[in-house]
Amino acid sequence: MDERYVFKILMLGDAGVGKTCLLQRFVENRFTGNYKCTVGVDSKIRTVEISGHKVKLQIWDTAGEERYRSMMSSYYRHVQGIILVFDTTRRRSYQNVDYWLKEIDKHAATNVRILLVGNKCDAFQGRQVCQQSAAIYAESLGVTYVEASAVTGANVERLFANLAVSIFDTHVERNRPGTVFPAEDKNAVTLKQGTGIRDFCC
Ligand code: GTP
Repeated sequence: MDERYVFKILMLGDAGVGKTCLLQRFVENRFTGNYKCTVGVDSKIRTVEISGHKVKLQIWDTAGEERYRSMMSSYYRHVQGIILVFDTTRRRSYQNVDYWLKEIDKHAATNVRILLVGNKCDAFQGRQVCQQSAAIYAESLGVTYVEASAVTGANVERLFANLAVSIFDTHVERNRPGTVFPAEDKNAVTLKQGTGIRDFCC
């Protein structure tokens, strides 16, 4: 099996929205609740399989805190995919999605694939952003919206899978009917080409 594909993915969003926890859930399948803000950037790698190709996902977790933002612009270089996260229990982080989109527009390539993620969907009580309005907003931007939870793991595999397939389609320019994650992965998902996951309820 060839291993020539490496996709660089950036995680963006306000401080405390759960970027580090989502990445930890995806790469190590665990959640540690203690909050330590990311300093600068951190990265993790996970290899997935897309249509018989091994694809290495190199995922960069950025600091959401404002004081680190000036150093972030260089990290957008050569990025093929962006996971833009907000916190469904914090309306402000959703309003700030506009800010992050402007940053993406300024610094990233025009064909970068973007996925909008509403994290912490396990916290039903504290919800401040309704799923439907976020989905409509995402649709107006032409991006896929996924609600996820790093605590329960809901949709975490799915969101990374969706982005990886989207990057594969854009950059490898192959039209395939579907993709399957490695068989040993018990959270394996099969995504059909063009299947949106906006209406998947958390
Ligand atoms: P910065 O590094 O400062 O940019 O923050 P971050 O976006 O990486 O946030 P982080 O992953 O560190 O999580 C922030 C807080 O949110 C932590 O206290 C986590 O326990 C909590 N958290 C993260 N994901 C979830 C989730 O899915 N549900 C709930 N309820 N809490 C979460």
